Amino acid sequence: MIGSHRLRRFAPLGVAAVLALALAACAQSYPNSTFTPHSDLGRSIDFLWDRLMFFGTIVFVLVEGALIYVVIRYRRKSEDVMPPQTHGHVLLEITWTLIPAAILAFIAVPTVKTIFETQAPAPANSLVIEVYGHQWWWEFRYPEYKFTTANEIYIPKGRTVDLVLRSQDVIHSFWVPQLAGKRDAIPNHTNHIWFKPDSNMATTVWNGFCTEYCGDSHGEMHFRVVTVTPEQFASWVTRQQAPGFFGPAAAPTVAGTADSTGAVASAATPGAPAVAPAVGPTASPAQLASYVLPRSEVPEYAIPHTPFPDAVKFDDKLTGDPVAGEKLFVGAGTCNACHAVTGNPLAVGTIGPNLTHIGSRIAIAAGMYINDKPHLSRWIKNARLMKSGVLMPTLGKGQYDPQTKATTPAGLSDQQVADLVAYLQALK
Ligand code: CUA
Repeated sequence: MIGSHRLRRFAPLGVAAVLALALAACAQSYPNSTFTPHSDLGRSIDFLWDRLMFFGTIVFVLVEGALIYVVIRYRRKSEDVMPPQTHGHVLLEITWTLIPAAILAFIAVPTVKTIFETQAPAPANSLVIEVYGHQWWWEFRYPEYKFTTANEIYIPKGRTVDLVLRSQDVIHSFWVPQLAGKRDAIPNHTNHIWFKPDSNMATTVWNGFCTEYCGDSHGEMHFRVVTVTPEQFASWVTRQQAPGFFGPAAAPTVAGTADSTGAVASAATPGAPAVAPAVGPTASPAQLASYVLPRSEVPEYAIPHTPFPDAVKFDDKLTGDPVAGEKLFVGAGTCNACHAVTGNPLAVGTIGPNLTHIGSRIAIAAGMYINDKPHLSRWIKNARLMKSGVLMPTLGKGQYDPQTKATTPAGLSDQQVADLVAYLQALK
């Protein structure tokens, strides 16, 4: 009896707490929520969810209500008396078969309709983006504009984007909760997902995820989708089509010589044009002025806050030289074996992400770390300690490689890493 009194006293408090929690949840805005879709496909899925939830709730309340009623009404009231035993009731059985059948039909019609609509080929004028899942990063190719990028895409608002999903290794899955998803990227099979981002939405960034378990660093296989106006998109495309260029144009500089790591190289600043012979053409004024989302406009939720491991030490006071960094980048058997920088004929590797405009990306390591000097330098020095299982080798001199369980005797000094970072950051 005491227990039931207590229950009665605390029940209203419990209900109030649950309600307060529910209201608090509604008041917040969740950047990775599927409940605030910003595309036609997102809304189609959201509509089905709402409908299922609505009818599901009605069924739940009716069934559970009937169950509780029957349990109480027909319970065994005395040890000696058996409650009435009923075996079969034709009318009841027909009723509880027909009602669920009608409900299922009611749900099935819009569901099947939506499946057919969203599985149909994309409209003819769609922006095609070829998506390749890799362990653990995303490659994005824009065949219409003939460039390749990684882990970050821009899409114009109001134009349907047709993502052609493939995988280079295992099954991954493409998901941008606020826009669309999910759909698998499967080896030896091509999947499509297409949607039209709302034309009245903000110029902003959305988080994308791999949502199919794909190995060690599945949880660190993110990407970013930047929704921009058609004008901003056209301008961004101009940038992406340009070779990797060294910041804003400066006065013509005398080309350095092959051994100019001394005077010429140290005089170079991150804003100066590339001078090494292997450097591609500098950008045109239109390319230099092209659009990229300013860092100040990147919403907080799209900025990774993963701390780097303490085990990877780096002298952050070092200043790098981009020209020396570029020479290191294309040196025998180094970065260019796996990475491409468009415009540099010596950097055409395709194993790792294309780095042509890496300097303008928000994050590195597939969205795991912010793209700044401390993180990028540690990533180059010992990527395998930064992200479990990656292909990127351990490059720092004397660094412990967690995959080979050995220390790298030869390798890059901190100054050389700083030079590489200066080069990569200059590739805007
Ligand atoms: Cu790729 Cu999980």
